[in-house]
Amino acid sequence: MIVAIDGPAASGKGTLARRLAAHYGLAHLDSGLLYRAVAHHVSARGGDLHDPSVATEAARALDAATLGDPALRGRHAGEGASIVSAYSGVRAALLDFQRQFAATPPGAVIDGRDIGTVICPQAEVKIFVTASAEERARRRALELTTRGEPVDQAAILDDIRRRDERDMNRSVAPLKAAEDAVTLDTTNLDAEAAFRAALAIVEARAGERRRA
Ligand code: CDP
Repeated sequence: MIVAIDGPAASGKGTLARRLAAHYGLAHLDSGLLYRAVAHHVSARGGDLHDPSVATEAARALDAATLGDPALRGRHAGEGASIVSAYSGVRAALLDFQRQFAATPPGAVIDGRDIGTVICPQAEVKIFVTASAEERARRRALELTTRGEPVDQAAILDDIRRRDERDMNRSVAPLKAAEDAVTLDTTNLDAEAAFRAALAIVEARAGERRRA
């Protein structure tokens, strides 16, 4: 089974994807880490994030073994990721890795922006996770505080809005719900409630497929 979880920054899709994967015994891929790693790789070498050829080169050379680097979770890498992820060369270079990950038995839960629309349009279950920008900024601030990073709530909200704008309006693989995705608004749901709602969506889809 392939479960595609897409949605904007800090919507809770990562936590949800991890829990669903553990529940169903599937592998989990946080595809955002790939774009974060590309941005980190470019910045760490003093490269220019605004140069598509430099970023594409970094994406082609990406070593999946480096995805556990904690630096990739920081704000800086996230901001850089949203810049390099708009380049078609970068997206093309990361496509095969994601498709192979999805095709490896027993299947996977993959979270990102274009999993249900571009990477795995054949996914059995697609969930589009959203929450208000204010709630997402609150969650992101909490996450950064826990990690010991300095937090400026207003700057985080700006960051989230800028990222939404960039992700939704780019020409390649923009952030949007697939036509056959179920939207899950987690603004008023805690992690547990969101997980239960997602489980219900997966089970309903599985039931539909059994009847088909
Ligand atoms: O949760 P958050 O948005 O902070 O981080 P993320 O999911 O790691 O994504 C970081 C950035 O990578 C996003 O703003 C997107 O621009 C990009 N991204 C993408 O374009 N496609 C994906 N499948 C995943 C992430």
